[in-house]
Amino acid sequence: MAVALSVEMLLFSLFLLPISVISQNNGRVAVGSSLTATIGDSSSWLSPSGDFEFGFSPLGNNDLFLLSIWYANIPDKTVVWYAYDGNNPMVAPRGSVLNLTANSGLVLNNPQGGEIWKSEITLGTVANGVMNDTGNFVLQHQNSGSLWETFSNPTDTVLPGQTIERNGKLSCRQSETNYTKGRFQLRLQDDGNLVLISVNLTTDKAKKAYFSTKTTAGNVPGSQGKELVFSSSGDMSVLRENDGRVPLKGTEGVSVRDNYIRATLDFDGIFALYSHPKYFTGNASWISPLVYMPDDICLRLGVGVCGYNSTCKLKPDKRPTCECPKGFSFLDPKDIYRGCKPDLSRKSVTRVESVLLGTSIFVIVVLSSALCLGFFFVFWKKPARPSENRTTIENEMIIFMKSKRHHDFSVFSYSSIVAATSNFAEENKLGQGGFGPVYKGVFDPGSLS
Ligand SMILES: *[C@@H]1O[C@H](CO)[C@@H](O)[C@H](O)[C@H]1NC(C)=O
Ligand SMILES: *[C@@H]1O[C@H](CO)[C@@H](O)[C@H](O)[C@H]1NC(C)=O
Ligand SMILES: *[C@@H]1O[C@H](CO)[C@@H](O)[C@H](O)[C@H]1NC(C)=O
Ligand SMILES: *[C@@H]1O[C@H](CO)[C@@H](O)[C@H](O)[C@H]1NC(C)=O
Ligand SMILES: *[C@@H]1O[C@H](CO)[C@@H](O)[C@H](O)[C@H]1NC(C)=O
Ligand SMILES: *[C@@H]1O[C@H](CO)[C@@H](O)[C@H](O)[C@H]1NC(C)=O
Repeated sequence: MAVALSVEMLLFSLFLLPISVISQNNGRVAVGSSLTATIGDSSSWLSPSGDFEFGFSPLGNNDLFLLSIWYANIPDKTVVWYAYDGNNPMVAPRGSVLNLTANSGLVLNNPQGGEIWKSEITLGTVANGVMNDTGNFVLQHQNSGSLWETFSNPTDTVLPGQTIERNGKLSCRQSETNYTKGRFQLRLQDDGNLVLISVNLTTDKAKKAYFSTKTTAGNVPGSQGKELVFSSSGDMSVLRENDGRVPLKGTEGVSVRDNYIRATLDFDGIFALYSHPKYFTGNASWISPLVYMPDDICLRLGVGVCGYNSTCKLKPDKRPTCECPKGFSFLDPKDIYRGCKPDLSRKSVTRVESVLLGTSIFVIVVLSSALCLGFFFVFWKKPARPSENRTTIENEMIIFMKSKRHHDFSVFSYSSIVAATSNFAEENKLGQGGFGPVYKGVFDPGSLS
């Protein structure tokens, strides 16, 4: 009996040996293989080309590891997928073990042997895993069909060859280095519409969409979006039920053969396409962003990007940054997207009023006074007519002030706004709000009567 057993074990290990060698060549990972969360060679599985690696990626210090997939051949170790546990990334302590099992697929155990995560296999038995050159890690059954794959469980990134089905979504991170789910999502809704939305993280309820392809059925049955397709040539489109296509953004001439391409919903709400050369000498980095959605998130989302009492500005790379008006500082200096609070140290009382102009202007007027507290309601007195001498902004303000739409807001006479903002001087422009440019102005309460 003992002899039979050891012969069996010998056969078993002989059987395993060639497979583990092959696994370095074709991306196949045999059932029974395991990875341990340590620094070193044993902590990942490579795709055949060596472009992608699946395994434990160290987080900061080497005591915690993220179960993830990343680009193996570039210095900027960019993560394209990670395991979630609810809203949180699956962070494994050093010494955790990932096993590929026939019945449960991937099973992650902590160093004490307790199960902390597993892939959700609903049906069938796993024959092997494959780390594909596309960046997809697939659990296959006997006939090479897919039982579970990372492409069907996306996190914040889609890769060429990947699709997102209806009711699928991407969730951004909290920040570049914090993988906890953030407040922006890309969803292919049940009605077929592809949207970028901000969500309430506690309830997962969608707030306002700031980008949409409008691919609902509308009046044409069958025209609703079926899937978001990121083709292997790098073009992105929404495929309709009736096979129509709504092109989104393409790689605009960047070759997929010579470049790594990814589309990521960044923590600041931008869904952007990035490229990185595959072959390079010296330093290379992601060219960011190649194309992005929406075109101007500050315009689309306003306070939704930057929080209250702050202004949103587009950087030259079209990503938003937030600034506090004078007399305010960031609620959390480590997270500038949380909004601003008034400086308590200042003796003066500062009040921010948002004047929402119905047409296309959103003006935040900062009232600053050493003496004065409370609201100012100064009503429009001097009638003025739109004229060629004024800028569009000025004309729109006049039209707004003469309209009945401003009753919820404090309104200042046109001349006092011109004075306060030095005639809409560029240096007083704070940035772009939800409805147009935002200027700062300082009012002298004495002059307002
Ligand atoms: C996981 O793999 C390790 C190393 O091969 C093994 O010692 C352990 O028993 C396996 N655990 C499970 C739950 O299969
Ligand atoms: C793996 O990638 C190749 C292209 O590199 C593709 O043709 C194949 O279908 C992929 N296999 C799986 C299981 O995803
Ligand atoms: C990531 O962000 C979440 C939510 O803000 C926070 O609770 C968590 O501690 C952060 N994680 C790290 C590693 O900083
Ligand atoms: C999210 O929803 C909860 C419950 O409705 C609410 O208390 C909370 O203020 C909301 N958070 C944000 C940021 O809107
Ligand atoms: C490469 O990047 C490093 C770190 O950012 C920098 O110190 C170095 O000068 C760069 N080298 C070249 C050739 O640009
Ligand atoms: C914005 O600033 C005002 C004071 O000017 C303050 O009362 C209010 O709480 C601030 N809003 C937030 C959300 O911090």
